[in-house]
Amino acid sequence: MKETNSSSALPDNELHPSGLAAQAVDAIEDLSGVHPGYRRAHAKGICCRAVFRPSGLAASFTTAAHLQEQETAAIVRFSGSSTDPVLADVLSPAKGMAVQFSLPDGGVTNLVGVTIPVFFARTPESFLDIIRSAHKAQAGNLGVVELIKEITTHFSESRESLMAIKRLKPPASYAESRYYCIHAYFFMDREGTSRPVKFEWVPDSGERTLTAGEAAQQPDDYLQDELELRLKDHPAVFQLSAVFGEEGDPTDDPTRAWAEDRRRIELGRLYITDLIDEPEGLVMDPTVITEGMALSDDPILNFRRTAYADSHQRRSREL
Ligand code: HEM
Repeated sequence: MKETNSSSALPDNELHPSGLAAQAVDAIEDLSGVHPGYRRAHAKGICCRAVFRPSGLAASFTTAAHLQEQETAAIVRFSGSSTDPVLADVLSPAKGMAVQFSLPDGGVTNLVGVTIPVFFARTPESFLDIIRSAHKAQAGNLGVVELIKEITTHFSESRESLMAIKRLKPPASYAESRYYCIHAYFFMDREGTSRPVKFEWVPDSGERTLTAGEAAQQPDDYLQDELELRLKDHPAVFQLSAVFGEEGDPTDDPTRAWAEDRRRIELGRLYITDLIDEPEGLVMDPTVITEGMALSDDPILNFRRTAYADSHQRRSREL
């Protein structure tokens, strides 16, 4: 299946200015301001060239072309979660790693991860409620700790995610962080059997964070500087893990993690080699998948398609 990577793939009515996606992006803008020409979330980022070498272990679970035998080219975008494109790296808590694989048929497929294992909202509607109440609380001058308390009191689903954000320390490197793709997908094998699966990017060099003292000494763009230096010496390598869900594991709820003991297999390794300029029109929409995979019934996953297209439309118009 050939997938396109631009918002024009969406029917017009899915991007209606008063639709839920536009309301969600409006709510983010109301909370955090508008930075013309930039993504409405994860605004600060850098792109890299990479190669994915599959292990071959996925072939009995999925027919997805990039997970068979042949290596594929990929683009990686590392980012800070803030909407502010010049915010110091130590100040945006969660980091993102979005990967776009080039498929042999000329199409692409995306996997988008962050450094926390669960999301704070279970549905697009509760996402809107949470962002709007964060905005109200901000207007009342609440500090971060009070804000988290206020939100978790009213939205218990967000508790695990906000606690994970609170525990985060600034990473030593984009290449020394673990990234969780959060949502469940399905693998489809040759016989048409489907299995629920989640994905994680695990760094070969291990996970490392900075002490408060080290963090205070970092320049604003230390994560880009560090990666640039590192890549001059050797590639940054990540293992792609698949975690299989079992009977009863939720596939429709990004606020709930699966048990730690679920079966894992290594799908392959990603070798990141160079920094590159961002390719024009890049949208890391996590619903762009390929034959051999299917989207789960997670309402947040399915909603991200229109929210990302809306953000892409806004930022493209501003350039
Ligand atoms: C209601 C749910 C969500 C909304 C409304 C939302 C909104 C957005 C928007 C507007 C963008 C910018 C898109 C663009 O202009 O290309 C974005 C980027 C991003 N989001 Fe989300 N998001 C949601 C859920 C999530 C979740 C669950 C994750 C965790 C994996 C996530 C991780 C990211 C990352 C890593 C990026 C940067 C992608 C890139 O590098 O291009 N988001 N998000």
